[in-house]
Amino acid sequence: MRLWGASASPSLDPAFERLNASLSFDRRLYPQDIRGSIAWARALARAGLLTPEECNAIVTGLEAVKAELEAGAFAFQPTDEDIHTAIERRLTERIGPVAGKLHTGRSRNDQVATDLRLFLMEAWPRLDQGLRELEEALVAQAEAHPDLLMPGYTHLQRAQPIRYAHWCLAHAWAFERDRARWRDAYPRLATLPLGSGALSGTPFPIDREALARELGFLSVSPNSLDAVSDRDFVAEFLFIAAMIGVHLSRLAEDLILFTSAEFGFVALDPAYTTGSSLMPQKRNPDALELARAKAGRLVGHLMGFLTVLKGLPSGYNKDLQEDKEPVFDAVDTLEALFAVLPGLVRTMRPRPERMQGALEEAMLATELADYLVRKGVPFREAHRAISGLVEESLREGRSLSALSLEAMRRHHPAFDSDVYEALNLEAAVERRSIPGGTGRAAIDAQIQALRASLDRSL
Ligand code: ARG
Repeated sequence: MRLWGASASPSLDPAFERLNASLSFDRRLYPQDIRGSIAWARALARAGLLTPEECNAIVTGLEAVKAELEAGAFAFQPTDEDIHTAIERRLTERIGPVAGKLHTGRSRNDQVATDLRLFLMEAWPRLDQGLRELEEALVAQAEAHPDLLMPGYTHLQRAQPIRYAHWCLAHAWAFERDRARWRDAYPRLATLPLGSGALSGTPFPIDREALARELGFLSVSPNSLDAVSDRDFVAEFLFIAAMIGVHLSRLAEDLILFTSAEFGFVALDPAYTTGSSLMPQKRNPDALELARAKAGRLVGHLMGFLTVLKGLPSGYNKDLQEDKEPVFDAVDTLEALFAVLPGLVRTMRPRPERMQGALEEAMLATELADYLVRKGVPFREAHRAISGLVEESLREGRSLSALSLEAMRRHHPAFDSDVYEALNLEAAVERRSIPGGTGRAAIDAQIQALRASLDRSL
């Protein structure tokens, strides 16, 4: 049975029929499709288009079809073009011609848009929970090692000392922004298209507001033509997913570097590494490498789907059938990553001796410039003097604090004996207690702010 066309319509080219069908992937929308149909049947009954008995037969029938699908007992037919067709076909088999009343005033166009929105509305809290767990793991690392120092990098060159906690929280803040993006996008996602019909609205007196409330939507779409072709919610979701993928890849890359023998700042729990089939001494950070790589497909889904949307004429077009696979894959990819990365982060161990070993005094060059600034020297002039001083220390193979006061004064007369106090890593870090800095007070404030946000769900 096909939903459209008279019984005598010509049969389709089989290869085209396969290309046209979306059942292989959209069968996943059956819970949302049945939820939407039950709500629609009730709305039809409220509008006087179904008697209570007809509505009851349809709702009971849909629940039975759902049970078949859940049990894996649903026999899909070759003519089931998509999940909407399949469910209606089966409903008709079970309850007879009254099933034909369900599609009154509705089109697959507003139906499929409603289903996909419901799917994402349901996925949303699970994904937010994954983000929170990852953030929580990063915050817990920061809390467990509040005073541990490590080199901070720019251009991947040792730059200035920072707290390890500062590095952990830097990544947490990126995920915090992703959560904020979700909160912002949610009301646009939770807008109900049902009631838009094929494109021009439904001619029957359906209470769309009540329908929206019943299905958990926050509002109803204001324009039926827009509603059936609007996939902004898909593009926005795919962007957020891609952004998360990029953030995950950057966290992963930091950790891949940090767990290498060259850095050695962090050790992973072996549960998250693999051995080499050839080299017994190796542990490979596969989990992190995959996290780094998955950004590729997430970004790809966004680019691919924006390209589908570009230049589409108004109203529903079959092109839009391409919206589902990227959404499903993005949700699955993120869930797979969120199942692993929080545990990996929670169980990783920083290695203070290796961090300490990488903290060299040259990283305090900025402190010396700031020292001169505090003595009233313009920063540019101070910077020049310190450049000469650092050059001399490198040339002579001495650390900065091994240079005599006279040697320093040759570079700038404002140096005094208290300069050696400036050459202290802890003090340098601690001076940065300004909001957003790496000083202890600023770290504590960051942790407090993140903890407060983590206590809130969507
Ligand atoms: N399988 C279709 C999709 O995923 C359902 C909507 C079909 N609408 C239509 N007018 N052919 O988009």
